[in-house]
Amino acid sequence: MDNKKITRILFVCLGNICRSPAAEAMMRQLVERSGMAANIDIDSAGTYGGHSGERSDPRMRRAAAARGIEMTHLARQVREEDFERFDMVIAMDDNNYEALFRLAPDRAAQSKIFRFREFLTNHPEWSYIPDPYYEGHEGFELVLDLLEDGCATLLERLR
Ligand code: 4NP
Repeated sequence: MDNKKITRILFVCLGNICRSPAAEAMMRQLVERSGMAANIDIDSAGTYGGHSGERSDPRMRRAAAARGIEMTHLARQVREEDFERFDMVIAMDDNNYEALFRLAPDRAAQSKIFRFREFLTNHPEWSYIPDPYYEGHEGFELVLDLLEDGCATLLERLR
């Protein structure tokens, strides 16, 4: 990869306290381990701002920590300017995708929006990353399983 080129990736879910900050932390760890940290910039945000400023959900943090992933993100709401800064804006589900599409100011911005499912390789039965907020522990484990799959594929595509 070109040493100067930086790809900026924003993961987006609803509250920015479960799925997208987990994707951010997982992807950052993968990128650091692959020696690409200088080339890939990662952040996350939510379409809903009600949890802004909060740490990630403790259930998500515990499940991630058990896989060796530390989550330190503070929640924030996605904003129109994010389409200037980021090259890829990756939605966890179709609701997030549609909210991002409405927020995007023009076609160039719209072309930066992806669905996380596009990067799933080993889970053909999943077309979105399910919201774990009202689920039990297994919901958080499922999110992490899906994120591991998609983040690995995304990293390969960025190589
Ligand atoms: P996330 O999960 O979108 O993966 O962060 C949720 C967090 C909070 C809410 C919904 C989903 N909520 O309704 O407050």
